Amino acid sequence: MTERLDALEAEAARAFEAAKDQGALEEARVRWLGRKSELTGLLRGLKDLSPEQRAAVGARANRIRENLESRYEEARSSLASAGAPSGSASAPALRDVTLPGRSIPRGHEHLLSQVLREVREIFHGMGFALAEGPQVEDDWHNFGALNIPKGHPARAATDTFYLRPDILLRTHTSSVQIRVMEKQQPPVRIICPGRVYRNEAVDATHHFEFHQLEGLYVDENVTLGDLKGTLDRFLKSFFGPATEMRFSPSYFPFVEPGAQVEIRCFFCGGKGCPVCGPLSGGWLEVLGAGMVHPNVFRAVSYDPERWTGFAFGAGIERLVMLRHGVPDLRLFYENDVRFLHQF
Ligand code: PHE
Repeated sequence: MTERLDALEAEAARAFEAAKDQGALEEARVRWLGRKSELTGLLRGLKDLSPEQRAAVGARANRIRENLESRYEEARSSLASAGAPSGSASAPALRDVTLPGRSIPRGHEHLLSQVLREVREIFHGMGFALAEGPQVEDDWHNFGALNIPKGHPARAATDTFYLRPDILLRTHTSSVQIRVMEKQQPPVRIICPGRVYRNEAVDATHHFEFHQLEGLYVDENVTLGDLKGTLDRFLKSFFGPATEMRFSPSYFPFVEPGAQVEIRCFFCGGKGCPVCGPLSGGWLEVLGAGMVHPNVFRAVSYDPERWTGFAFGAGIERLVMLRHGVPDLRLFYENDVRFLHQF
């Protein structure tokens, strides 16, 4: 019996050492140390031995059991530390050099700036130069020279922020046209993009500050046909080659005749939808335009008998909202990156 015990000890120790993973080790434990193992059977059989034999063999069998249990523990902990990816001081941390790195979030140009640049390029291609002017204006450049004298009802149409009785935040970029014509003789071909201010209650389609893009062309024999051709080209470049445009009569003090320029709704194709509204008949207003009023030419000392010209103006935010389906004007100014990063 003691011979069998020795052989069993050696065999079990080898089995624990040979186990390649936790599963194999557990199998070996059940086989050599479990309740139905040979060793447990032998220990149970001790009761049939004589008292002297029982003491000697029992002590030996118990030592073997303790020895095998500690061999098993050793094998288990060495498998555990080999299998773990990192952690213990003795095992160096494993780095997977093929994992993609963590990217650093990057900023980009604001949607309005992108569109302003795009629009400048479209008009640059048609020979329009860029002109800029001050946002704090005087009454003359914002109103007087544009055929809107004091007391003119058109002054009530825009609620103006006055800084002093004659100084204000410009309500449109038409003021820049006056400044350019005061300094430069025709031909003049400019666009004036920029920020403008009106004392409006803020909602999804109104804001007290927004951007306009205004254009002016003055030369000999400039006609309404030139205006239509220019705007058709612009709107097709901006909204797509299938864009349909139409002019309807409208009133602005600084042009005569004046027009409101509309494009056929590209959401519903002109059937009428929530974007173009049930009453519009499927047309979206995108621009104001017209032939420069002779009084404007007189104000900048151009001879209205010799020169003719057209002007137009658009709200940049409105163009962007239509093209990109942005439902609320305030999104442009809130700087929520969840909105901004989409563009
Ligand atoms: N200045 C006008 C506005 O702010 C737009 C416009 C410009 C209309 C030029 C006609 C011609 O609404």
